[in-house]
Order: sequence, then structure tokens, then C-alpha cells
Amino acid sequence: MTDETLSNLLTETRTFEPPAELAAHANVKADAYAAAAADHEGFWAEQAQRLTWAEPFTQILDDSSAPFYRWFADGTLNVAYNCVDRHVAAGTGDQVAIHFVGEPGDRRDITYAQLKDEVSRAANALTDLGVTAGDRVAIYLPMIPEAVVSMLACARIGATHTVVFGGFSAEALASRIEDCNAKLVITADGGYRRGSASALKPAVDAALEKVPGVAQHVLVVRRTGQEVAWHDGVDVWWHDAVDGASADHTPEAFTAEHPLFVMYSSGTTGKPKGILHTSGGYLTGTAYTHHAVFDLKPESDVYWCTADVGWITGHSYIVYGPLANGVTQVLYEGTPDSPHKGRWWEIIQDYKVTLFYTAPTAIRTFMKWGRSVPDGYDMSSLRLLGSVGEPINPEAYVWYRSVVGGDRCPVVDTWWQTETGMMMISPLPGVTAGKPGSAMTPLPGVDADVVSEDGVPVPNGSGGYLVLTKPWPAMLRTLLGDDDRFVETYWSKYADQGWYFAGDGAKKDDDGAIWLLGRVDDVMNVSGHRLSTTEIESALVSHPRVAEAAVVGASDETTGQAVVAYVILREGIDGVDGDALVQELRNHVATEIGAIAKPRSIMIVPELPKTRSGKIMRRLLKDVAENRTVGDTTTLADRSIMAALSAQAPRPV
Ligand code: PRX
Repeated sequence: MTDETLSNLLTETRTFEPPAELAAHANVKADAYAAAAADHEGFWAEQAQRLTWAEPFTQILDDSSAPFYRWFADGTLNVAYNCVDRHVAAGTGDQVAIHFVGEPGDRRDITYAQLKDEVSRAANALTDLGVTAGDRVAIYLPMIPEAVVSMLACARIGATHTVVFGGFSAEALASRIEDCNAKLVITADGGYRRGSASALKPAVDAALEKVPGVAQHVLVVRRTGQEVAWHDGVDVWWHDAVDGASADHTPEAFTAEHPLFVMYSSGTTGKPKGILHTSGGYLTGTAYTHHAVFDLKPESDVYWCTADVGWITGHSYIVYGPLANGVTQVLYEGTPDSPHKGRWWEIIQDYKVTLFYTAPTAIRTFMKWGRSVPDGYDMSSLRLLGSVGEPINPEAYVWYRSVVGGDRCPVVDTWWQTETGMMMISPLPGVTAGKPGSAMTPLPGVDADVVSEDGVPVPNGSGGYLVLTKPWPAMLRTLLGDDDRFVETYWSKYADQGWYFAGDGAKKDDDGAIWLLGRVDDVMNVSGHRLSTTEIESALVSHPRVAEAAVVGASDETTGQAVVAYVILREGIDGVDGDALVQELRNHVATEIGAIAKPRSIMIVPELPKTRSGKIMRRLLKDVAENRTVGDTTTLADRSIMAALSAQAPRPV
């Protein structure tokens, strides 16, 4: 974020009070803050009562081997039972759980009773394929109901799932399958995106070739009907294995700390981190925050979160939190502009969506398309809007509130991370006034602060690092197979205080409200997706022509940040067709990681700015990428390099 944006943010003075009607009937009132502050553990133990436990817990928080915290550890439960069966048992089996909207226009309503049957059949099918509790299952699916069913079927039998976003490449999928030793991969022939069928199964085939002997079976959903290569003995059609399976399945109870899923996320090194979440605490945290922040009234609300289930937002706020709360929700397969730019608003109109959760990057895209698009639809059903994934700039916030929300819906800007599992800093819609651009204050039961480098809380009006000062139930438990990296990444910077280091910069305003300012490490945020500079650099240097690469996140009007790369070639630039090579390198990154990581621009350069100790000065490269006057270069080994780089405009592609 540039200094200019920062000062714009901090001079933002508009505030929006909670709507009186919402405040009067809000699920969570102001007293929740005091109650949670007075008895942190007691507060969370009370929230855990939202769940149905097979065996109640007697201990709330076990901090005896901090930072390896355990929550509700001696309690047992079945997560899928909590998300599905108990609603049927309570008599709401006929309520729609999922209004599915496929991109080509196909629609399916699935009730809780039907979801229970489908999850049970899938659980039986997984068991027949040899999957047992503790095994890992990789899920690589489009946004179709089978994605939700697969996750819940794993949870039901105690298998740990790892959902890999469909935009990741075969290479990225292979490394995740290998890292978590997935016994089964669940995929589809393809999915619909931007009006056409795009294949998924070939990426799974390629991934399994790269890591032979790991996965025993591939369960394939037929979604598009496109041709697929078939491997007898390995590949199994979903409709053969699941449709014919019994809908009777007794869910077994697992301990609260049973691993529920692993979500890979980019860190500051080349290797993605396998973030591990467990069962009872995670479900408590996501169910409570979904209830509190969306003021969810399951009997009357229609909820829609536009995230993909391949990301944490989809896990916590499409699958686990909402279904534990018995929500009725929309699940949409495709893109916002297919077949027309009003697709999302049309869905809101058709299903009378009341609670809507999306990302700032989408809002900025809609702003570019103009208000005449949403103005063509009746969105009077909406009563609350949420934002997630990256800082929301005040203009996007105000546009969202006014154009989408008709100036009547509060906007909740929710700050959290894959690691936190649940929302951490957010307004409570019936309590907290919203300031455009601020996530406001930690939720009840969450303790956060903004502190200096040496761990002193900063006064109001100042900035620093965001830390979480008390454990919370949905926190990550470790990084799969790498406890040391877990401790080092999150708990070493403020080890003396025992605080969790979030990796985000933040500022407290004069009222103590928190404004998130972006990452302070080598992690970029592109369209709300987390990407590591180092991971893209290693993808680039794996190309035979590249000797060295440096990647920075440059601010971008629509995507928040964009990937800008600088590369030095092995054999110099003489005779090189620059444009063709740049294209080749961009495609190479897409193959290695996925299309989401493709650099917006690549500059082929003779040198990179380095300190005398050989460290690349990314700060200076960012200045060039953002067309700013290059900052202080006194620590550079060779100061002439920056003049040469600045003279070379980024190659637009
Ligand atoms: O930098 C913060 C940003 O996204 C990072 C977490 O990314 P990820 O684990 O992929 O999870 C995204 C969905 C929860 C954070 O470290 N971030 C997320 N939400 C916000 C945000 N930055 C500012 N405001 C937010 N509301």
C-alpha cells in the first residue's frame, strides 16, 4: 500500500451507524464483549454449546504445551452430524440447504434431508474405496454440490480433506497430494467457467504421474460430460460409487482435536504451508462468528458467500459455519460475468438473498462495469453485506454499501486468515458503527492488538504489527509435518509475550479502531488470493532460460496487488525475442503453480538491485513497478542499476 493510500485511509471520517431495526433484533448485543473479556474460556465453552457433542468436554483450553493449544480436547463429536443430521433430527429436513446454480443455468435445490442422504452415500462409498479415519483425501472439484458433499463425507468418516482450488496446476496439485499423502483424489471431468467447459481430470492424471504410488483411487464426478482418459482399477465414477451406495450411515464420534482438514497456503518460502485445522474448536469458532457477524436468522435468511470452496473462506463460511447453523444458502459455480455482467445480481434477485459475502476485488470490478448493471435488478431482499480477503478501500466500501446495499445494509469488513480459521476482527452489525476501510474491533472472544517491533502496544493514532494475544478455538494447530516452521512463523517474533504474529501491518485510529494495511512479509494478495513472492521466483528460475528472478506485488486498481517479475537471463538478452519469452515465462508460472500466479508483467533486466550482502532489495523494485520515484538506494552495492531499471518501463502483456 502506498503512503498516499495510507494517508487517504486515515483521513477517512465517514461512519455508518447500525440500522435501528437490525440493532433491536441483533443476535449478538454489546454485552458480549464484556462477557467474553470477563471469562475468555467460559465464553468459548458457552459458544461450544451451539454444537451437539457425543461426549461433552470437561476441559476447555489446554495450554500446557503452548503454542500447541488444544480446545475441548476430551469432548467428542461428529462434524458432519453437526452440519447435517441434527437439523433433520430437529425437524428442518425439508429446509433447503443449498440452492445450486450452475454456470450454464442448471439449478438444483438440495434440502437438509437430501444432503444427509447424499453425504451418507458418499461416506459409504469412500469407506468402500478403502478410506478410513485418519486417511487423507484430496478434493479438486468445481463449485458444485459434490464439493460440499465430499468434504462432509470425509468429515463424517474422520478422513482429513485437503481441497485444492481448481485454478491450481497439475504441478501444484501433485505437491499437495504428495505432501499430505492423499489416499484418494476426488475430482470431476471438468467444470463450467466463462461459458465453456474447462477440464479438471487431465490435471489429476498428470499429477498422479508425477507422484506415482500415493493415491490409490480417483473418484470422478461427471459434470460437463467431456471426454476423459480412463484408468481402470484407479478411476471410479461418482455416479457408480455414490449413487448406488446406501443412504444409511451411522456417524462415528471423533475427539475434538481430530484433524478435519489441511489447507495449503502460500508462505514466505517456496513451499506452501499445510495449515492444519481440527474439529470441535474450529466448528465452534466458525459457527459462532457466522451467527454473530451475519446476524444469521436461519429460518428466514438466504445467505450467499461467493468464495470458492478451494479457499478457507469457502471452508469456514460456505461449508462448516453456515451448515452447522442450519442456513439456506446459494452455491454458484461460475464467474460474475457469465453469461452477462448482471449474473450475481440476478441470482440475488431470484433467490431473495439477504446476506451477501464477497471480496473487494469483485466489488472494484463491478465498479468498473458501472452501477447501471446492478441498478437493473431488485436487490431489496439484502439486509447485510460482508467483505473479506484484503483491505477494502473506502470508495469500494461506499459503492458496495450504496449501490448494492441501497444505503440500508451495514457492511461488515471481516479480517481473518487461513490460519485463524474464523473471522477475528469485524464489526458486529447490530452494535458497531462501520467506518469505510476499517475492520473495526476484535470480535467478542478475540484479543488482538497493534504493537511495535519490540512488542509494545502502540497508542491510538499509530501503526505497527497486528498480533493476536490470546488463543482462540478455530486457530490452526500446526503446519502439517512441520511443527518447527509453525513455531518459527507465528510464535517466535513475540515468543516472550506468547502472541501470534499475523504478518499484517495495522493502525489504530483515534478511537482505537483497527485499519489493516496489508502484509509485512513477502506474501502478496492478488484478488484476495495469497501468493508468495518466493514461490513465483522459484517457478521462474525453474525455466531453463532464467538465471535469477525477483517478484514483487505492485498495487493494482482492481486486483489489489498484481504480480510483477524481474528476470535475468542465463545467456544474456542478445538476440532474444523479448515478447515471446515473456509470454513463455508467464505460461511457465501458470504450469508450475496455476493461472492465478501468472505475473501481470515481466521485465527482462541485466541486473537486480542488491545490498552489499547480496539481498535483493524488493522495496526498490516495487517503486519501479508502481512508477514511483525510487526510494533510498544508499545500501545498494551498485547504485547505477536502479537508474537503468527505472528507464526500462514494465513490459505490458
Ligand atoms: O493480509 C490479510 C488479508 O488476507 C490475509 C489472509 O489471507 P488468506 O489466508 O488467504 O485468507 C483470506 C480469507 C480470510 C491476511 O493476512 N486479509 C484478509 N481479510 C482482510 C485482509 N486484509 C484486510 N482486510 C480484511 N478484511
